Formats: sequence, C-alpha cells, structure tokens
Amino acid sequence: MQFDFYSTHSILVARGSSVNLARKIQERGGKSVLIVTDPGVLAAGLLNRALAQFKELQLSVQIFSDVEADPPIPVINQAVLAAQACHADYIVGFGGGSSMDVAKLVALLSSGKERLEDIYGIGMAKGPRLPLILVPTTAGTGSEVTQSSVVTVSESEKKGVLSPHLLPDMAILDAELTLGLPSHVTAATGIDAMVHAIEAFTTKRLKNPMSDCVAKESLRLLAGNLHQAVNFGNDIVARENMLLGACLAGMAFTNAPVAGVHALAYPIGARFHVPHGLSNSLMLAPVIRFNIDVAHSMYAELGQIIKPGLKGSSIEQASQLADYLGSLAGELGLPQKLLEVGITERDIDQLAQDAMLQTRLLMNSPREITLKDAATLYREAL
Ligand SMILES: NC(=O)c1ccc[n+]([C@@H]2O[C@H](COP(=O)([O-])OP(=O)(O)OC[C@H]3O[C@@H](n4cnc5c(N)ncnc54)[C@H](O)[C@@H]3O)[C@@H](O)[C@H]2O)c1
Ligand SMILES: [Fe+2]
Repeated sequence: MQFDFYSTHSILVARGSSVNLARKIQERGGKSVLIVTDPGVLAAGLLNRALAQFKELQLSVQIFSDVEADPPIPVINQAVLAAQACHADYIVGFGGGSSMDVAKLVALLSSGKERLEDIYGIGMAKGPRLPLILVPTTAGTGSEVTQSSVVTVSESEKKGVLSPHLLPDMAILDAELTLGLPSHVTAATGIDAMVHAIEAFTTKRLKNPMSDCVAKESLRLLAGNLHQAVNFGNDIVARENMLLGACLAGMAFTNAPVAGVHALAYPIGARFHVPHGLSNSLMLAPVIRFNIDVAHSMYAELGQIIKPGLKGSSIEQASQLADYLGSLAGELGLPQKLLEVGITERDIDQLAQDAMLQTRLLMNSPREITLKDAATLYREAL
C-alpha cells in the first residue's frame, strides 16, 4: 500500500464561529485582509457579524463581492487586482465553491509570481501563496479541503488548477451560515457532495483506505440529512451534518479524484449555465448504470449506506441505487431530466465532444467512456 493523503491543516467546526474571523486572522499576524465573496452571500447579510469584529479590532478589511457562479477568468483577474490594490496579506474565501475557488487563486496569484494560464492541470502551481482561510456557506463542493480550483475558461470548457498549495491554512465550518440557503441550492449542492463521495469511492485511480473511510462517513451524513435540510432549512443539526458531510466528501475526492459524472456535467454547466450540483445530479444515474458491470460491488456497499435495506445481488443493489439516485432530484423539487433545463437531442453531439476534453476526469472512470458512450449517456439523461 502506498498513498499520500492531503487535507486542510486546521478545520474548525463550531456554530457561530465565523464571527471570530477577524480575531483568528489578527492572532496569526494578518494586517490587511481581502474577503472574496459574491453578491448573493453579501445580500444575505452573512458577513455582517464577522465584519463587526474587524471594526472592533481595527483590522483593515476590503471586500471583493463580484464573484460569479462558475467563475470565469476575468473575475479572477479582477479579484487579484483588488488584493494587490489593498496590499492584502491575508485572503478569506467566504461563500460557496465559486467564492472559495476564486479566493484560492487570489492567494496564489496576487504576488504576481505565477500566471493563471500557466497553472491549469495537476501540480503546475508552485506557490507560495498568501495565508488563506475558507468559510463555506453552501454544503456542497468541499472546496475548503480540496487542492482544486475550477475556472470557466470558455463558453464550453471548465479547467481545474490542482495543487497542494490551494489547500487553505484553515477552514471554518459554521452551520449557522447555511440556515438561509434556499431549498433548491441546498438540494443541488447536497447532491454534488454525494457525487463527490460516490465518485471518490469508485474511482479507478488513487482510491485508498482513508478516502474510502471519509467517503462512506460523508454519505452517511449527507444521505441521512439531505431531505431534512431541504424541507426544514432552519434545522441546525441537519445543516451541520450536511456541512460536515460535504467537507468529508471534499476530503475524499481531493485524494481519490472524481470521474465520469463530473466530466459529463461540466459541459452542461459551461454551455447552459446549469448550477454545478444540478448538472451532476442530472448525469448521476446514467453514469452509475454505465459503470455497473465493473463497479457493482462498490455501488452495493454505498447503497447500504445511502438507502439501507436494498436487497438482492450486488448488481441488483447497484441498479436499485441508480434508480433511487435518479429520482432523488425530483423528490427534492429539482429537474430530473436534461430536457427540463433546455437541453435537447440537437445539443448532444456538441456536449459529448466537450466532455471528451475532460481527460483529467475521464481517466478516473472505472469504465472507459468513449465519445460514443458520452453521447449515449447524455441521451439517457434527456
Ligand atoms: N474546488 C473544488 O474542489 C470544487 C468542487 C466542486 C465544485 N467546484 C466549483 O464550485 C462552484 C459551485 O459552488 P456552489 O455549488 O457552492 O455554488 P456557488 O458558490 O456558485 O453559489 C451558488 C449560489 O448560492 C448563493 N449562496 C451561497 N451560500 C448562500 C447562503 N448561505 N445563503 C443564501 N445564498 C447563498 C450564492 O450567492 C450563489 O448565488 C462551481 O464553479 C464548481 O465548478 C469546486
Ligand atoms: Fe462537484
């Protein structure tokens, strides 16, 4: 056995703890802070209590709140300029995956030593970076514990920067921040987190006992709390379990990488601006069915966690799991089919070609996905 397991140095899980962000930064020597967030998080007032402490401690802080979902390159460049303009020596990503991913790149790029166009791919970013704290406000991406940052580079393509330098110094998991998350965002981001754990557990490369362990525990938390968090958003226990579950799923997939579901979901997000979690959820059941022949025993093992009591052979259990996950989005009030998000037969060839560009993800698939397979999978999801 041989593997490396990377994670965030310090993970604080405590309700209300984001209020003490300024103190934590001051204790660590920060003097000028840039908080990277988006307009929705700002409008929801999630930063208000944290900002009060910056004032109280007279710690200099600027806010960059122009992050867009599925951040494109210009947004990252603008955020880097904002960090340089205020001579930031500490970066905070406060929001969903989009805000955290931009903050990670700002921490890396604001010294001007590296350029975004040179660091796409695995291990290209060399660092160092500015000190970085990430505070998730969705329970989905797990970006607070991943080595990746996802950038929308064109109308049709997302690219990842993957490097241990993108792991923050600290993650703060404050479930109170997620209480007001709209139910459709809770549902989509929650399914994204489940996909991370499922793909990490069934990945062809780099799966290991530690990633398996966190993937399984994350699915126990996510599957056990998703309906409650969607239907009773102010249930703090369900919210905290979702936040921790998403974090553990992030820990799993940053070490045991995601595969076909993400490869097929990215073009849907890039071309049709379908939220990341929803794109994943639309492709999940077709990809599981496609993989069943080679991965049924792993799916059956996860099936007993996600939907305890599945019966029959491992192939039958894996197939029941695919059926269950195929209907989950609908149960939670999300679209279940590509047609419902405006994708038709005419779009399939283009989507399949786009998906083939996701070689970094496709190489992790337990069963090889060809161009023809990709088109068949999109057709099944129509
Ligand atoms: N780095 C990684 O490891 C990783 C993993 C998976 C996905 N991603 C990327 O993350 C992005 C998706 O992130 P996401 O799904 O968290 O969504 P997001 O960050 O795009 O946010 C979605 C929406 O939810 C709103 N929102 C967030 N928190 C809220 C709250 N508490 N209350 C009210 N509204 C709130 C935001 O304002 C935004 O409008 C994509 O770009 C995806 O590619 C990154
Ligand atoms: Fe994802």
